Amino acid sequence: MGWCYRRLLRPLLFLQDSEAAHNRVLAGLAWAGRGRLLASLANVCYGAPEMSVECFGLHFPNPIGLAGGMDKAGVAVPMWPRLGFGFAELGGVTRHAQPGNEPPRMFRAVAEQALVNRMGFNNAGAEAMAATLDGWRARGQWPAHPVGINLGKSKTTPINEAQEDYAFSFRALKNHADFFVINVSSPNTPNLRELQDKTALDEIIAALREVNDSKPLLVKIAPDLSNDAIDDVLDLAATRKLAGIVATNTTIARPDSSNAICRSTYGETGGLSGAPLRTRSTEVIRHIHQQTKGSLPIIGVGGIFNADDAWEKITAGASLLQIYTGLVYEGPGIASAIVKGLKKRLNREGVDSLKEAVGQQ
Ligand SMILES: Cc1cc2nc3c(=O)[nH]c(=O)nc-3n(C[C@H](O)[C@H](O)[C@H](O)COP(=O)(O)O)c2cc1C
Repeated sequence: MGWCYRRLLRPLLFLQDSEAAHNRVLAGLAWAGRGRLLASLANVCYGAPEMSVECFGLHFPNPIGLAGGMDKAGVAVPMWPRLGFGFAELGGVTRHAQPGNEPPRMFRAVAEQALVNRMGFNNAGAEAMAATLDGWRARGQWPAHPVGINLGKSKTTPINEAQEDYAFSFRALKNHADFFVINVSSPNTPNLRELQDKTALDEIIAALREVNDSKPLLVKIAPDLSNDAIDDVLDLAATRKLAGIVATNTTIARPDSSNAICRSTYGETGGLSGAPLRTRSTEVIRHIHQQTKGSLPIIGVGGIFNADDAWEKITAGASLLQIYTGLVYEGPGIASAIVKGLKKRLNREGVDSLKEAVGQQ
């Protein structure tokens, strides 16, 4: 199945501009999700076997989730479990509708399985997203797996008013998801990453807690933070009882490349994702796991393409995983292939459950 995607569909998609291809695929999934037949067919082809994980009070049918940014508006909600995902993080969403940065703003470095994007939180706003999600519930098509929402800051909101912007979106959406991710790590909204600072982040968490203090809240961090800055976030996670950390977002760093096309893509402003991010995001996961002695759940994301990449992140300390760029390069069978590969790996290593493997190395 993966072969069909890589040999047949992907070449056609990769003939198009990256964002145009993304929009076409998402429109197709949104359409398929509205009817039961195609959704069931997708489930037959791509559904993943059960590999349950319990984390921050939620039951995940398997540990492979959809990363923030892929379904920014929640248009394909019923399809993600059908494509084998054990959970989906929708958004990033902001208080105000905004167009994002000027296109082109998403670029492929195919030879090195990477993307650079500077989307800039293009989205229709929190209230519009709430209406879309209401629609899925009304149609009886809300998925059985956990759904999270990634909260960003509107570009026009000054940085010192960020907490109100996040709180507005949270208020509008709090009944529409099982957990929320405070995204203070996108490189594509000016000054957003300053909100990873302890005081600023504390104000945002406090504002969200005032709206609701029972929904699991996680913070998504950048791979470009120093260990000291990560430790500040971890202190806050302990005092504010965060449910976990999502590690990591895209990076502003760039690898050396001998490939001229990749070098040109890496020259674009924005966040880099995919294979070149893998090692750094695993390092961040390992650091968090060591510092917290495994007491804080980690959603590991960055450069996961196969079961070996997934295993690397789990043994570094991640309890759950997410995928964005891997889905673009490997296609719709990726979640199921990874779950099957993890099952084999557990057998091979003589480990009874995924939980036992978390942070083993
Ligand atoms: C085009 C694009 C848009 C993204 N949008 C968001 C977003 O809105 N919110 C967010 O937290 N992360 C966003 N991300 C980051 C991903 O969720 C993920 O953290 C990152 O891409 C690393 O994972 P990957 O290597 O599997 O892609 C985006 C990534 C890409 C490529």
